[in-house]
Amino acid sequence: TDRYAVLGNPISHSKSPMIHSLFAKQTGQDLCYEAIEAPLDGFAATIERLRHGGYQGCNVTVPFKFEAYHCATELSARAKAAQAVNTLSFEGDKIIGDNTDGAGLVRDIEQNIGISLAEKNILLMGAGGASYGVVLPLLTAGAKLTIANRTASKAVELAAQFSAVTGGGYENLAELQFDVIINATSAGLTDSEVPLPEGIFAEGALAYDMMYGRETPFIKFAREQGAQVADGLGMLVEQAAEAFFIWRGVRPDTLPVITALRG
Ligand code: ATR
Repeated sequence: TDRYAVLGNPISHSKSPMIHSLFAKQTGQDLCYEAIEAPLDGFAATIERLRHGGYQGCNVTVPFKFEAYHCATELSARAKAAQAVNTLSFEGDKIIGDNTDGAGLVRDIEQNIGISLAEKNILLMGAGGASYGVVLPLLTAGAKLTIANRTASKAVELAAQFSAVTGGGYENLAELQFDVIINATSAGLTDSEVPLPEGIFAEGALAYDMMYGRETPFIKFAREQGAQVADGLGMLVEQAAEAFFIWRGVRPDTLPVITALRG
């Protein structure tokens, strides 16, 4: 039995062990997957313990994605663009870092929700770690991307790392319309005001919140504005499926797993 884990702090509420067990069962892969709480000052030591304890790889979540990026001896292009790693593979002396978050987001929107991103006007809200993780895959899907952030300079800085991406503050959005608006801020955790002008959703637009588990003020606003809405549960399952594919070379069927998690 091959061994995998997800490392985070805290980690007890992680759905990853359940998702990967369902994938393993469905594809007939012989593996186990557990949740491990690494000490805040002991991420690198935990990685060494896993590598020498016969694990094949691990996922990494808050707050260790940046440390995982530095632990890796090799990085994929999307991990480099994200400046963060959520998937590590241990191969001999090599620690290969990848980031499947953006691919998970794109796949959820395109395959599960059924909206092609090519040539669409996309607004990404936020310029923190969650946003860094998804920009390159959104561009690869052909999206025309604008990034807005409360602290405008951070959106400008993120946008500047790519060509043809606009970044700025929310005040620049007046009169504009978007086909897809993605909330990658942590603002859903509080009932703060949504910093978007009315009328910002184009006809038939999608509002996608990377958060899941409760209706955020962003989703409530989007509904009131007539947009189609989606939460981040599909992205969670799809980023896991992409990690499973990296490790096992098999792509699990995600829809039954998303359905099972929705309960
Ligand atoms: P994460 O890794 O989840 O992206 P982060 O790096 O701390 O977390 O980034 C949080 C993001 O949410 C930032 O873009 C932040 O905006 P600032 O850069 O201006 O701080 C955004 N954010 C948090 N609370 C917000 C709020 N109440 N309104 C608007 N944006 C908010």
